[in-house]
Amino acid sequence: MTDNIPDMWFNKLFSGRAMNVPRSEIRELLKLLERPDVISFAGGIPHADMFPSDRIRQAYDRLFGTTDTWHRALQYSTSEGYPPLREWIASYLTDQPTPWTKENIIVTSGSQQALDLLARLFISPGERIAFTRPSYLGALQVLRFYQPEFVAIDEDDEGILIEPLIAALDKGLKFIYLIPDFNNPTGISLSLRRREQVIDLALARGVPIIEDLAYVHLRYNGENIPTLGTLALRRLNSQGSEHTPIVQIGTFSKSICPGLRIGWVRAASVVIDHLTVLKQSVDLHASTINQMVVADILTDSFDTCIQKEKAFYRLRMEAMLDALKRYFPRNISWTMPEGGFFVWVNLPEGLDGSRLLESAVTNYKVAFVPGGAFYCDGTGKNTLRLSFSGNEVAEIQEGIMRMGELLHKELCVPKVPKHAIHATSKHL
Ligand SMILES: Cc1ncc(COP(=O)(O)O)c(C=O)c1O
Repeated sequence: MTDNIPDMWFNKLFSGRAMNVPRSEIRELLKLLERPDVISFAGGIPHADMFPSDRIRQAYDRLFGTTDTWHRALQYSTSEGYPPLREWIASYLTDQPTPWTKENIIVTSGSQQALDLLARLFISPGERIAFTRPSYLGALQVLRFYQPEFVAIDEDDEGILIEPLIAALDKGLKFIYLIPDFNNPTGISLSLRRREQVIDLALARGVPIIEDLAYVHLRYNGENIPTLGTLALRRLNSQGSEHTPIVQIGTFSKSICPGLRIGWVRAASVVIDHLTVLKQSVDLHASTINQMVVADILTDSFDTCIQKEKAFYRLRMEAMLDALKRYFPRNISWTMPEGGFFVWVNLPEGLDGSRLLESAVTNYKVAFVPGGAFYCDGTGKNTLRLSFSGNEVAEIQEGIMRMGELLHKELCVPKVPKHAIHATSKHL
């Protein structure tokens, strides 16, 4: 062996499973955020101004205020998580009195870890799991490690399509993964009617649904829709929460901040029990001190944080939707989200989002995520994801105007005068 071990030597030793995990195109793109001259709609991360930094500092100070609390905060703790936090999560977004107890909750290191633990628990290689197409890239990335077969099902503006879902169920599915509220990447929400249909199918076929609630609290327009978890429990009536096939995952990354890395799973206690054993083998438990900080903030400040965030992001979403109407060519359509962080753009066939990005960054100093990254089957090249969460309103207007110029040039259509507003493009 030489002193300098070449990369090639290690490359031969890495496992096939690890090499199967794709690099996140988004993580690479996040580097663009560091370039001050580029307006980036790529990130999809919360705005740092929304982090309740004073309240977080106060919560840490409180913990260090007495010996008993800081001893607990800095010590190992149980894999299920900090009991007061689990109790809060048990009654979050449910009918009251809540059908859940803390035995139905495990706290995870972000909801990304919740997905990883659920994949470990449910997936054997080759088993079929269903997704909307396009899908959340982080889920594709983590689930791919466990070598399932992905079944991608299209959405319309009411969410996942029922006919293809039934066809997929007929061939057998291990679970269905859905983000019913403000899907990442499309911004689309599952309508109440579709939610009922999906629940009917899950209950009739006995197939679990992993319901990802990452953006559920960020609704800026329209009425709240009950979660799949709530609808299923109403349907089950007196049979109780132990019989529901819905496994919910959630996060405090968008409501408080992502740096604390606190997420959760809420499910029948048999699921939580097995996840606890798996979590022990992965990282023992989520950060004790951060769980205690989150629990403290939840006692009095959660609603304040949410109200502030909603007002803040609503302005940005509306600015983006207005600018799209104003500056984009007519033959381009996009989704009309009512919350979350994302708008999804559908370009005419033949335009390739990755190729456009090069020109966008170099010549127009604007960035987005090419939509092909969100498809597990190599399609979707003529789509883009735009995030409005990280930008100021004026930047959004300027960035979309620059993108509009690029698209007019690519499509060889004359630019629409700034004052002219064309009919809203509604959906994919
Ligand atoms: C839909 C969805 N689920 C899960 C996550 C993971 O969030 P975290 O691990 O920060 O809780 C994200 C992050 O962007 C997301 O968009």
